[in-house]
Amino acid sequence: MKPILNELDAKREQARAGGGAKRIGRQHEKNKLTARERLNVLLDEGSFEEWDMFVEHRCTDFGMTDSKVPGDGVVTGFGQILGRPVFVYSQDFTVLGGSLSETHAAKICKIMDQALKVGVPVVGLNDSGGARIQEGVASLGGYAEVFQRNVLASGVVPQISLVMGPCAGGAVYSPAITDFIFMVEGSSYMFVTGPDVVKTVTHEDLTAEELGGSSQHTKTSGVAHGAFANDLDMLMQTRRLMSFLPLSNREQAPVLHTIDPVDRPSAVLDGIIPDNPNMPYDMKKVVSEIVDESDIFEIHENFASNIICCFGRIDGQSVGIVANQPLVLAGCLDINASRKAARFVRFCDAFNIPLVTLVDVPGFMPGMAQEEGGIINHGAKLLFAYAEATVPKITLITRKAYGGAYDVMASKHLRGDVNYAWPTAEIAVMGPEGAARIIFRDAAKDPDKLAEATAEYREKFANPFVAASRGYLDDIIMPRNSRRRIARALTMLKDKNLSNPQRKHDNLPL
Ligand code: HXC
Repeated sequence: MKPILNELDAKREQARAGGGAKRIGRQHEKNKLTARERLNVLLDEGSFEEWDMFVEHRCTDFGMTDSKVPGDGVVTGFGQILGRPVFVYSQDFTVLGGSLSETHAAKICKIMDQALKVGVPVVGLNDSGGARIQEGVASLGGYAEVFQRNVLASGVVPQISLVMGPCAGGAVYSPAITDFIFMVEGSSYMFVTGPDVVKTVTHEDLTAEELGGSSQHTKTSGVAHGAFANDLDMLMQTRRLMSFLPLSNREQAPVLHTIDPVDRPSAVLDGIIPDNPNMPYDMKKVVSEIVDESDIFEIHENFASNIICCFGRIDGQSVGIVANQPLVLAGCLDINASRKAARFVRFCDAFNIPLVTLVDVPGFMPGMAQEEGGIINHGAKLLFAYAEATVPKITLITRKAYGGAYDVMASKHLRGDVNYAWPTAEIAVMGPEGAARIIFRDAAKDPDKLAEATAEYREKFANPFVAASRGYLDDIIMPRNSRRRIARALTMLKDKNLSNPQRKHDNLPL
């Protein structure tokens, strides 16, 4: 063989070795896969085409001339997930802690630019000590170059961030701009300032896990959309998520064959609403009866669980489902639920994924904490997201649709295309008892009279027929037929064409 061919082989081998056996061993000890092992799991076997394997940093300060590793701490390129293209970068913690240098950033930018040109998603695997300290401002500039591309790609191609190790300082802002962030339990963390700085400034003594572990971000802050037990699980679930998404905003999500009959009745739904209107039931059961094979991918499962946001399929077609969950806070809309659902609705709208909204909402959450926290502003986000969305919008009211929350949850008035209700729906300005207490103030002092007034209000408004008589509902449907009726509506809406007025951009109440 010609020596030059051997040299290529040797150089490739050197790049593949990353930071060396010792550091790879340390990575494994932490229960983490290496950058390349992760790509092997994420991508279809043999599909990876690597770029920029021979790129090296150009830093000469602090003895860096002697610490060059081909690839410079990030593996980049393109491959396939379930036979569809994807661009990827995977930071290699074994090379200078996966820290981001000018050239490391340039590699990421190169694949992002290409992804945007060809309309293909980007999945970023983050495992990095942050800005390459030896490079100073050059690495800060590198981050900003990545951020700029994240912003330009937003709403054009799906961007997914897998946080699989440290992600600290300004480095968190690239994932924060992307559509979905997933974390690995116990081995990943994200924070703007680490425990040491926090201790100096605020005197709080916290571990990295407490400050920015997966539990913090998937349950409390809502920064991350999901957490998985280990690298393998996360990578396999990311493959599954991708199957629900289109490659770009120019395309539709793939239609997958299903063995689940589209006209399958769900007798169980006829009895799911309890006789007592104050009793909860599990809206996830409704969701799983409606979608193909009960298969959903939930976003923010453990954050603001009073609203469910998930991807599913109906007759093979991807849909985004938003559903109030009566099991948690009676399904009220609060600040976090509004933020969560607004972002999900906007993602679906950006990527041509029809929205199916299941409504059982007693209203916005009352209280000082909510008002102080700006529920007015956050609730408006959800209202705004639904009102601006031009994708097919199908709404089904299962029980309560009270007050402003009725309007917000993809009502007819916000350009809902097909609005259905079950016979058990109650659509009114507020719950019957609250209404009776206000409009029959005197009667409210006497329990019997209050009960009578409540019954009168319920009879009059707490049903779907008043809304249907005004055309705010297109039909009142039998619960058992929900899947079939929604599927037919989706088919009817296949070629829906609606656009908003021309403008530079809207001014969503951030
Ligand atoms: C250069 C770095 C590095 C960095 C880690 N390394 N972080 N090299 N720049 N930022 C190197 C280490 O020197 C070490 O090299 C190897 O990576 C592994 O690091 P360890 O410390 O041994 O690993 P571990 O104990 O697991 O600790 C990981 C860590 C710690 C918590 C991430 O390395 C750390 O605190 N790093 C600094 C983090 C940081 O402050 N980054 C800047 C954030 S500010 P050897 O040769 O021994 O293997 C920022 C600004 C971005 O990022 C702004 C954008 C707007």
